[in-house]
Amino acid sequence: MAELVESVQEVRRAIATARAIGKRIGLVPTMGALHDGHVRLIADCRAEAGLVVVSIFVNPTQFGPGEDFERYPRPLDDDLERCEAAGAALVFAPTTATVYPHGSRSTFVEVAGLSDILEGASRPGHFRGVATVVLKLFEIVQPDLAIFGQKDYQQQLLIRRMVEDLHVPVEVHTRPTVREPDGLALSSRNRYLNPQERQAATVLHRALEQASRAVAGGERRGDRVRQILRETLESEQLVRIDYAEVADADTLAPLDDLEAGRRAVALVAARVGTTRLIDNAVLEE
Ligand code: PAJ
Repeated sequence: MAELVESVQEVRRAIATARAIGKRIGLVPTMGALHDGHVRLIADCRAEAGLVVVSIFVNPTQFGPGEDFERYPRPLDDDLERCEAAGAALVFAPTTATVYPHGSRSTFVEVAGLSDILEGASRPGHFRGVATVVLKLFEIVQPDLAIFGQKDYQQQLLIRRMVEDLHVPVEVHTRPTVREPDGLALSSRNRYLNPQERQAATVLHRALEQASRAVAGGERRGDRVRQILRETLESEQLVRIDYAEVADADTLAPLDDLEAGRRAVALVAARVGTTRLIDNAVLEE
């Protein structure tokens, strides 16, 4: 069974032993409620690292007031089995007091620029919480590499920026989004959807596909691509758009025109019933 540890000392001790025999250490940070998207990240990490640590921590500082922190699923036994099956040796599941020894009166990390647009505009303080907890996990585990999902496109960009700015000695890898057969991106929050909402939720992926198809077919006007995203999303009655944007894939600056040689990404966020979902697609010319 993968070893379950809660304290910083325990995780450091286990890692020191692995490092002493020359193993590369990989980290997959998660909030648990693991699905096949997480499992893929863990398995990919195992292919590149001799010892894989999965962290499971529902980070309170990245949830806003009225968000789902309290009811976020915490199926630890099931998660441990999935970690084990995917090849993780160590599961680090700390308490909030371990991660935040001084509570809310402690040190926070702010990644200016990337924190207050798109997801950050909709969820004030969210990325401050994400950057802070990920840096803490990097400091605790000191991995050689860490793996994140493209599903949270802005998050992985923000973490890359933080790692560059603070010269954190960790390689950041990003892996493609794992989807259901009908295109819906796997997410721990999909379990909140009732059957009608589950059906309607596929529209996020369909909107991104329509946009991708238009760009592959030569469309270069940012506003036209945004309109395609919006019209497709609006075709589902149960869906309320939060944002539908076409942006530079590296800076997330909104694009007027898609230029040759400049990668673009389409990003959508929408409420399906009361559940907020996000998805994205890099647009290939
Ligand atoms: P969580 O939502 O649990 O996601 C953990 C990792 O799994 C993230 O890197 C996320 O992008 C990735 N992931 C989620 N769904 C995926 C999918 N369908 N395909 C591929 N990868 C997927 O993201 C967080 O937790 C937190 O913000 C965290 C980084 C752990 C900081 O608290």
